[in-house]
Amino acid sequence: MAMRNKNIPNHIGIIMDGNGRWATRQSLPRNVGHKEGINAVDRTIKAALKLNIKILTFFAFSTENWKRSSEEINGIFKLVREFIKGKKDEYKSLGVKFISIGDITKFPEDLQHELDRIKFETKGNNSLIVNLALNYGGRADIVYAVNKLIDSGIKKVSEEDILNNLYTSGLPDPDFIIRTSGEMRISNFMLYQMAYSELAFPKVLWPDFNERHLKKAIKVFSKRNRRFGGIT
Ligand code: FPP
Repeated sequence: MAMRNKNIPNHIGIIMDGNGRWATRQSLPRNVGHKEGINAVDRTIKAALKLNIKILTFFAFSTENWKRSSEEINGIFKLVREFIKGKKDEYKSLGVKFISIGDITKFPEDLQHELDRIKFETKGNNSLIVNLALNYGGRADIVYAVNKLIDSGIKKVSEEDILNNLYTSGLPDPDFIIRTSGEMRISNFMLYQMAYSELAFPKVLWPDFNERHLKKAIKVFSKRNRRFGGIT
């Protein structure tokens, strides 16, 4: 296997914040911001393919997002559905593999079906993994892992046991987490997995995010000195 360039993150997690503000600033409904947010997802996937990023995790719907109006929630579901259906063939031919984390059994059945389908049809791909965090929360993830371990009859757990039973089991931890819109919060994203992730909080609102912003963030990442608790 080719050596990976340590200056380029292998796995990037993205907290896509600012869709609502982007829309409100233009006196548009919030879901127009989410719609533009989907275009930013598409741009980011294409940019990641060019930059040889291997895994992109998008925080698309959190366990706390159920607090929003049903109009907004249904609007997001509709956009995710359209995105998957509309882009499936293109991403398939680009070698993108789709996976998801979180409890999608709470989503409308047709959406679950579309998700299962894109995962199945892209499972042999290996250019880029796009991981959709859907009805996902970092705390819920840890609870999910602990309950799986209890069910297995285990009496004592190790860090490794928890890591291997999270929704992200088998995926490397994110090297880099980007949250757009300038808000400096983690909002229950990948809590266990981000122990040594580098963080960036660019001011750009998610619907405006493009290849230039991604490259700029990666440049910042490449200058960080990752020590993982050790010394250099
Ligand atoms: C945060 O902006 C955005 C969300 C909670 C939802 C984002 C979801 C999408 C763009 C769909 C993603 C779909 C795929 C397929 C990856 P906000 O509404 O919290 O913005 P605000 O803080 O400005 O109000």
